[in-house]
This record gives sequence, structure tokens and C-alpha cells, in this order.
Amino acid sequence: MAGVILPLDFPSGDEALELVDLLGETADFYKVGLELFSSAGPDVVRSLRQRGKRVFLDLKLHDIPNTVARAVQAAVSLDVELLTVHASGGASMLRAAREAADGRVRLLGVTVLTSLSGAEVEEVWGREIRSIRDEVARLAKLSVESGLDGVVSSALETSWLRRTVPEDFLIVTPGIRPSGADRDDQTRVATPADAVAAGSDYLVVGRPVTRASDPPAALAALLAEISSAQAT
Ligand code: C5P
Repeated sequence: MAGVILPLDFPSGDEALELVDLLGETADFYKVGLELFSSAGPDVVRSLRQRGKRVFLDLKLHDIPNTVARAVQAAVSLDVELLTVHASGGASMLRAAREAADGRVRLLGVTVLTSLSGAEVEEVWGREIRSIRDEVARLAKLSVESGLDGVVSSALETSWLRRTVPEDFLIVTPGIRPSGADRDDQTRVATPADAVAAGSDYLVVGRPVTRASDPPAALAALLAEISSAQAT
């Protein structure tokens, strides 16, 4: 069954942990991203681990190999389960990350940020591209070859990506909107059923649950939608 990861996109540790305590046993996997990590630091990760929660540390590391390796070691010492690195950091950086991870944290490659347009990608790389999909495929391949454990992929790219990566390669998918939910600022969204059918291993679902007026009810509805999608 595809798992659910709830992003704790909050400005303070207190707000994040308030939601975690409200949801209690029904949610066990949380994503800590740049906002929360910058404001609350490793303490919020420790608080999550003390509550028995699994942690996806979404820091999108991109630096020289030695610096990234040391950051990965620090994340390992926090006992997180998933950690992101930018695949565009290059093969040596990715290999250094993998060696530092030493099987104790699973590394996910970020390929092309979904916020980037084709024109922006061309501007950054200084060459024409055929399509963003080609660039995603190239960086996913580099992630596989460098020994990463998976990638982050938008739901709309997951089904073809699933066919190009090894079976046990993790695909973690944000931009999910349960049927009827507000899209917020996400433009390329998919329903939980779409993401499950496309082959995602984990769905990252934020505001439809974390900003709902009744988060436990919204989460229960989401989990029901996922399990009925998997039953079909
Ligand atoms: O609230 P929402 O469901 O849009 O949150 C999605 C989470 O996934 C946020 O933490 C966001 O930063 C992250 N994300 C994303 N799209 C990507 C990569 C990450 O929405 N392409």
C-alpha cells in the first residue's frame, strides 16, 4: 500500500508538533522541510523521533561532495529515514552522499523542480532542451546509477518514470489533491488514486490535511480514498 507523508510546513516547532499530537496514531510519517528546519532546527526532528514518528528530511542538499557527505552524516545521526539531494549536484556529490548514508538513510534525488519552466531550465543549463521530461529522465537515470534509493516525482511524471527505474526504486510524489480539494498553488496535481495507479510509493499530501478545519477527519478521508484506490 502506498504510504502517506504529511509535510510539516509550519513556521515553528510548536505549531508543527501541535498538529502531530492532534493526529496521534493515525499519522506516522512526516516531512520536515526548509522552513521548519530553518526555524526549529534538529530539535523538531528529535521531538518527532521521540514520538515514534518516521521523518523525511527534505533539505534538497546541493553542495561540494565533502559538505554534502557531512550533512548526510548529521542527518543519519538524527535517525531520519528519507533525505533529499539535488541530482544536478553531479555524480561525485551523489556518490559521496550515498557513501555517507551507508544504508542508514534512504536518499531521494530531486530532478527538475516542478516550479521551473522549460525556458528557465535552458537559461540555467545554457543549452536548448527537448523537453523537461527528458531532463527529468536523465537526472533520474543519474540518480539510479549513483546508487540513490529513489526520486521525488510529480504525479504526472510518475507513471512513465516508474517504467524506467528499477522496481525497488522509491518514487515519492507531492502535488496530490484528494477529489474535491482546493488546489492551492499547485498547478500539476493528481488525485491519490492517480498517484497510486501511476506507481508512487509515498504520497506527500500537505494543505488538504494540515490546513483542514478538521485535520483528523481530512486524513481519515484521504486514507480511505487511498485504500479504495488500491482495492480497484
Ligand atoms: O500543501 P501541499 O500538498 O501542496 O504540500 C506539498 C509539499 O510537497 C510541500 O512541502 C512542498 O514543498 C513539497 N513539494 C511540492 N512539489 C514539488 C516538490 C515538493 O509540492 N515538486
